[in-house]
Amino acid sequence: MAVLDTMPKRKQASMTKPVSMTSVSAVSTSDPELNRDDFIVFRDFIHEKSGMYFPETKMYLIKNRLANRIKELGIKNYKDYFYMVKYDSGMKEFNVLMNLLTTNETSFFRNVPQLQAFSDEVLHMVIAEKKKVANRNLRIWSAGCSTGEEPYTLSMLLMEKIPDYASYNIEIVANDISENVLQAARKGIYHELSLRTTPKFYKEKYFTKTGSVYKINDIVKKKIRFSQINMTDSLKMSLIKNVDIIFCRNVTIYFSDEVKRKITKFFYNGLVKGGYYFIGHSESLHGISKAFKLLYLKNGLVYKKE
Ligand SMILES: C[S@@+](CC[C@H](N)C(=O)[O-])C[C@H]1O[C@@H](n2cnc3c(N)ncnc32)[C@H](O)[C@@H]1O
Repeated sequence: MAVLDTMPKRKQASMTKPVSMTSVSAVSTSDPELNRDDFIVFRDFIHEKSGMYFPETKMYLIKNRLANRIKELGIKNYKDYFYMVKYDSGMKEFNVLMNLLTTNETSFFRNVPQLQAFSDEVLHMVIAEKKKVANRNLRIWSAGCSTGEEPYTLSMLLMEKIPDYASYNIEIVANDISENVLQAARKGIYHELSLRTTPKFYKEKYFTKTGSVYKINDIVKKKIRFSQINMTDSLKMSLIKNVDIIFCRNVTIYFSDEVKRKITKFFYNGLVKGGYYFIGHSESLHGISKAFKLLYLKNGLVYKKE
């Protein structure tokens, strides 16, 4: 089943949270209506503003994910909700919409071979180049970081794999469009399920377990800068520069090719010459960009800016 078809439990929970934006106190009990024409207009707006593209076959998904919110607001149909989102100058309701529509599935040490390609091969090459020119700055970007498992994994690997780690000026830029997931990322508290592929060594060294929950230790958090960035935002995206390695995994699978092309250009411009770009193992830049060179490493594939 496609990831988009399943709604994570925390998303269901967020739909029952108190409403902050409504001026309507009554809660409508009947199901709001969504016809095809309204869906198309709403869908195109979501695409333009977030990059996420919902084909007509996913109309039910928009309906399901937004129904409770619309009822909470006391609004009768999706069209009125759409106008509310569109004309909310503070973007508050747009942020709520993004919290509800994004798919945030992630885990620590997701796709171990790819992470080995990062820590045992790419990192080694990057550090060797930096040593030649006495450059001690290292910047990594986790784009679409969800609840933080990816940037925290990268942070732990850097600590373990860079021999003179303390002598480097390291920064991990981690961003997402959804404020809800960023809040969870900053807290850094996880259940066993998120750590299902985490080696015992890392669990014991970098987490503090209390009851059934794991809290990430402060030392892992130290180098990470979490911030809300919508990847379709040209201005914010163009401000992230001099990045050595980018991870953007399992994010653009929900985007149209047109948006993928736009975002890939931002990543290309954000990378230093000789920088590396990891995408999800089921993704490809075929038909999206010819700017990168595809390298076949021992443990996996990576794109390089030559
Ligand atoms: C499936 S998660 C992937 C998390 C992690 N990269 C991984 O592979 O485990 C996709 C994330 O992309 C975020 N996302 C979707 N559209 C975005 C956009 N336009 N800008 C920034 N983040 C976005 C979602 O909020 C979600 O947290």
